[in-house]
Amino acid sequence: MPFRALWITETADGKFERNIIERVIDDLPPGEVVIRVQYSSLNYKDALSATGNKGITRKFPHTPGIDAAGVVEISRNERFATGDEVIITGYDLGMNTCGGFGEFIRVPAAWVVRKPEGYTLKECMILGTAGVTAAIGLHKMEMLGMQPSQGPIVVTGATGGVGSLAVAILAKAGYEVIAVSGKSHAQEYLQYLGALRVEDREFVNDHSGKALLRPQWAGAIDTVGGNTLLTLLKGCMTEGAVVSTGLVSSPKLDATVYPFILNGVSLLGVGSAETPMTTRLLIWDKFRDIWNIRDKLNAIAKEVTLEELNFTYIDAILQGKIMGRVVVKIGADK
Ligand SMILES: NC(=O)c1ccc[n+]([C@@H]2O[C@H](COP(=O)([O-])OP(=O)(O)OC[C@H]3O[C@@H](n4cnc5c(N)ncnc54)[C@H](OP(=O)(O)O)[C@@H]3O)[C@@H](O)[C@H]2O)c1
Repeated sequence: MPFRALWITETADGKFERNIIERVIDDLPPGEVVIRVQYSSLNYKDALSATGNKGITRKFPHTPGIDAAGVVEISRNERFATGDEVIITGYDLGMNTCGGFGEFIRVPAAWVVRKPEGYTLKECMILGTAGVTAAIGLHKMEMLGMQPSQGPIVVTGATGGVGSLAVAILAKAGYEVIAVSGKSHAQEYLQYLGALRVEDREFVNDHSGKALLRPQWAGAIDTVGGNTLLTLLKGCMTEGAVVSTGLVSSPKLDATVYPFILNGVSLLGVGSAETPMTTRLLIWDKFRDIWNIRDKLNAIAKEVTLEELNFTYIDAILQGKIMGRVVVKIGADK
């Protein structure tokens, strides 16, 4: 059965081309579950894969899309049956396994999560990898004992996918959120999501050379890396926790040990793609319960077609121009 998919090819001169082509299910990688994809979403990593980044995708041609939500078409695993609504975020999907920017995927059953009750497939994709990443960040902080009374939490790259969802989830959980953004026009949006304060990127871009700064936040969820992450560590309150999730500015961290050994600050990492299934299920449970931000999801997301994704949005996310989440409509609703 032919289906449409975004297809990235490497040309003889080492450049990369993006086209929407027809493929067949037989050409998909092996797996126990074939899923008819209804929605996917655009993550920063997808744009890297779509532009030929071999740190993300080793071999081309390839279909990116680390997130997918849809309906089981064929299952060779007893846990899933034809017609089940399911979601996949991360693992190898969209990296070296053809991903959600195509109408069908074939994946191992161990990657598949049943759609949580109370959410639509589209809402699951508004959350997607970005929401799971932000939520794991908060989950890890709370495992160390973090609570709203400890002080404010900074979110960097606040208008981006991970950032927007981090702001909304932290606010829902009762935290005072300081949203840091380079977009001066985004104040109203960030306050609607629940930020108490909105600051410019310079707020967490210290160049004093000092090893420690006046402590101003109990923790942070950082998507930026580099000097921003360093500043977040230096200005963190005693026994605080800084979560590193991204590298939109830099993958480097030129730190001293002083925040750790003098202030007891913890640096936590999130690698959402490889998060164990037990943690994923816990996070989706929290999205249904204490971290339910369903009422905010439509304000965070913009729905686009596969064509619009290809022509506009892949480049836009690489230029830091996206606000919130881009959800990609792949196939017809059930
Ligand atoms: N660890 C994981 O499991 C995981 C999962 C998902 C994503 N990530 C990573 O997290 C990061 C964010 O991903 P995303 O999907 O949320 O991307 P995104 O939607 O593009 O958001 C990134 C945001 O960062 C800010 N920004 C962009 N360039 C910047 C720069 N040079 N300096 C400072 N801020 C900058 C912008 O927000 P403002 O204009 O509001 O400042 C931008 O909207 C990426 O590095 C991605 O690879 C990691």
